[in-house]
Amino acid sequence: MKNKKKSEGKIKSKDKCGCAVSCESEEIIKGFSHQGKQYVIPLLQKVQEQDGYISEETMDLVSEKLGVPVSQVYAITTFYSYFRLQPIGKHLVRPCRGTACHVKGSKRIIEKIKEHLDLKGDIDTTADNQFTVAPVACLGTCGLAPVMMIGNNVYGNLNEENAGKIIDRLKS
Ligand code: FES
Repeated sequence: MKNKKKSEGKIKSKDKCGCAVSCESEEIIKGFSHQGKQYVIPLLQKVQEQDGYISEETMDLVSEKLGVPVSQVYAITTFYSYFRLQPIGKHLVRPCRGTACHVKGSKRIIEKIKEHLDLKGDIDTTADNQFTVAPVACLGTCGLAPVMMIGNNVYGNLNEENAGKIIDRLKS
């Protein structure tokens, strides 16, 4: 694996310079130098918050700086579903699949959104890297169910038609 350098709201998907580990994350990782295995998870969380995902280059750098075999870093990132191993698209679409949304048809709406974006199977990011669809458990706005968030904006009272139209408005 090589060593180097990559948003909606607070989450980023690519560093301005195009590197797989952002300059900010590099600094964060360096700040954990020689801290040991117990810091791998909190460090990876910070990097994902910064870069939007964990790249192979990130794993290498974390391994090197913390003194933990890269196989252990890899095992942790693949064990916890929280960690993303692929960059997110420009727009992060988070449809809710929580109970209140589920009873109001969110499952079908999520399927429709994926169909609308031509996302098949487990693929969650469009080929042009414009959209990533990542369902969440509850957005805390159950009174507006069914709901989705795109970036920092909340869209409520969704149905199979308006969800696609909202997404279309964001297409560049
Ligand atoms: S269950 Fe969807 S917002 Fe709470």
